[in-house]
Amino acid sequence: MRTIIEPFKIKAVEPIRMTTRAEREAKLRDAGFNVFLLRAEDVLIDLLTDSGTAAMSSEQWAAVMRGDESYAGSRSWYRFEQAVHEIFGFKHVLPTHQGRAAERILFSVLCQPGHVVPNNTHFDTTRANIEFTGAEARDLVIAEGRIPSARHPFKGNMDVDQLRRLIDEVGRDRIPLCMLTVTNNSGGGQPVSMANVRAVSQVCREHGIPLYIDACRFAENAYFIKLREDGYADRRPIDIARELFSYADGCTMSAKKDGLANIGGLLATNDGRLASKERNLLILTEGFPTYGGMAGRDLDAIAVGLHEALDEDYLVYRIRSTTYLGEHVSRAGVPIVQPPGGHAIYLDAAAFFPQIPPLQLPGQALVVELYREAGIRAVEIGTVMFGRRNAQTGEESPAPMELVRLAIPRRVYTQSHIDYVVEAILQVWERRADVRGYRFIEQAQLLRHFTARFEEARG
Ligand code: F0G
Repeated sequence: MRTIIEPFKIKAVEPIRMTTRAEREAKLRDAGFNVFLLRAEDVLIDLLTDSGTAAMSSEQWAAVMRGDESYAGSRSWYRFEQAVHEIFGFKHVLPTHQGRAAERILFSVLCQPGHVVPNNTHFDTTRANIEFTGAEARDLVIAEGRIPSARHPFKGNMDVDQLRRLIDEVGRDRIPLCMLTVTNNSGGGQPVSMANVRAVSQVCREHGIPLYIDACRFAENAYFIKLREDGYADRRPIDIARELFSYADGCTMSAKKDGLANIGGLLATNDGRLASKERNLLILTEGFPTYGGMAGRDLDAIAVGLHEALDEDYLVYRIRSTTYLGEHVSRAGVPIVQPPGGHAIYLDAAAFFPQIPPLQLPGQALVVELYREAGIRAVEIGTVMFGRRNAQTGEESPAPMELVRLAIPRRVYTQSHIDYVVEAILQVWERRADVRGYRFIEQAQLLRHFTARFEEARG
């Protein structure tokens, strides 16, 4: 087989700046060893997130110029609505400024205290928006999805028996909706199979519970189905996506992922009564229903991006380049969440640094080392992000896993950039025994990972 290449050539370039190790050491100290507090210009390869960081195509930039900024009924809106209809098929579409705005509107209308919302794994903004209404967010991913080294082709699947048990336990009336996140970001960017979507949908329909898809990475999920599920090898990604959405009653989406746009989102539903309640909330905080928090040009960029994300040459390259990073580091013994996900590789920092106990933040240590070694920015998904501090006693409790996510922006980095990332990880791996942990010196009550400051742990 020939080398899988980037299916594009480069029309505009954005320089990235090399820094010396001494400069990086100084920047790290100034930032309190928190890479969220670095300036982006001091980062060489930025793998903090795949959200809003895509490179837009020449067609998208041309669409930006066609953007119609009319307040109501703009041409951009109709192009956006048509693209969403073509791919997602839901009857009613509401544009939002990003994914979490769609979540807030959906859950404000459907959820109340005492309710429980199942999902394979809730993303943090999804969970936070559910909890904000007083409802409970419950993760029901299959057992393999909780074990980093366990291999399963669809590790993002929901445990259907657990869903049935939950419905029996709390009763249908306390479950206002069920969600499925494709791909399962918080579980390692792992896909959900069509069979699982069908099974979850059937249980939901038996009980009259609406099923919503968190569709951020729907195109990547469709491609995994094509690669791994019987009967889909010859189907086009768009047809796979359409089938998947046909089992659901609506969706939320951040267009900053598989919309290949830098901002934007949407909420869609087949329920007309719900849509009109949602539209009223949309007007209150996002905007008139034909732009909802976006400029006309954003709507146009997304209308083009949604289709480009389903292009098969693009998807081959996209999934292959993430897998390439995962395979090259794991072949050298580096522990990662297996198999590689769609948008990101997750390093298992607890296994990488067995000498660093969870409360000395092994994930944070690995994030710091990747920047120190090579100017790479990753994100800790472990005790810094999900551990808890008891406000009375100050006692810290660890998160269940200590992961570091390397999220790959879409169409931004080339294979040599990825080779450079592989080399850097292997260099840190070589000297892993000498790395020490960190401790908090400053932290906020909520979402502490964004602003915390750290120092190196002694002894
Ligand atoms: N759902 C999932 C599965 C996500 O990954 C995200 C964002 C959202 C919802 C919220 O969308 O940011 O547009 O409001 N994930 C980003 C990330 C931030 O880095 O994984 P948003």
